[in-house]
Amino acid sequence: MYDQTTQLIRREQVAPGYHLLEFDCPQIAAAAQPGQFVHIRVTGEWDPLLRRPFSVMRINELRGSFQVLMRTVGRGTQMLAEARSGDEFDIMGPLGNGFALPGPEGEVVLVAGGIGVAPLIFLATALREPGSYRYVRGLFGARSADDLCCWLEFSGVCDEFNAITEDGNAGEQGLVTDLLPAQLERGVGCVYACGPALMLAEVTKQCQGAEIPCYVSMEQRMGCGVGACLGCVIPTRASGMQRYQRVCKDGPIFDAEVVDWEAIRYGCIPG
Ligand SMILES: Cc1cc2nc3c(=O)[nH]c(=O)nc-3n(C[C@H](O)[C@H](O)[C@H](O)COP(=O)(O)OP(=O)(O)OC[C@H]3O[C@@H](n4cnc5c(N)ncnc54)[C@H](O)[C@@H]3O)c2cc1C
Ligand code: FES
Repeated sequence: MYDQTTQLIRREQVAPGYHLLEFDCPQIAAAAQPGQFVHIRVTGEWDPLLRRPFSVMRINELRGSFQVLMRTVGRGTQMLAEARSGDEFDIMGPLGNGFALPGPEGEVVLVAGGIGVAPLIFLATALREPGSYRYVRGLFGARSADDLCCWLEFSGVCDEFNAITEDGNAGEQGLVTDLLPAQLERGVGCVYACGPALMLAEVTKQCQGAEIPCYVSMEQRMGCGVGACLGCVIPTRASGMQRYQRVCKDGPIFDAEVVDWEAIRYGCIPG
């Protein structure tokens, strides 16, 4: 893990409310694995005090840079959305455990909900790296066409791709979880998902029904980002035992089987 002063080298609004940010940081670019995140101090001042976490979406090892895709939701993200090329940020990363990759062959399904597409673009790129024979099917759902942000980038790194929107403005009309049963019926070795908690709960339910392993990327408000403050815990169950695990250190990627979705339904985490 590095803690670096890095320079923003590109900020581009890619859709209303969504920005792509690229940072110059060879160390993080070389070390980052799909599913890991960076923890960004959005200002050199004390307010806001806490860093903000963002998944790594793409790395450019040659250039020594990495990209994140950001949706503006509050004060911290608004400040980043107004940053300029050349601005410097204190960034910690890469943090978290990252996705465990399956064997070099076989089919996987990636299920993205909204901004959850970011780590799955990095994952799909790694799954299809030269020398592997994995077949990647991507599913992408969002509220409307604008929220299918970076769908071209996602479809470009998948062997097969389907999009769906809640209002039917792009792709089919419905929820991304409506597309999953047909994919599971075709047979698949493993499912990876990132998106709102309720979407992840439904993906888990379907995968459990089909007895297919599933890994989910969880979100939680964060403090330290390195496992010390216990500010980011989520309820889990393993071997019948209920316990809290840290999204920043034990996750953000969890075996969907161990997440206590019932407790999450009662409002333990955002989304
Ligand atoms: C591991 C991880 C990876 C993430 N990756 C990305 C990413 O790639 N792109 C991206 O745009 N966002 C990502 N997020 C969410 C991002 O960190 C939050 O949106 C951001 O911290 C909000 O900061 P803010 O100051 O703008 O919002 P605040 O002013 O702090 O809050 C504004 C609103 O956003 C909600 N919110 C704040 N933090 C979160 C959160 N972690 N999850 C869900 N809702 C939240 C609050 O409940 C509130 O309603 C990730 C979060 C985690 C934990
Ligand atoms: S944010 Fe401090 S333990 Fe996770």
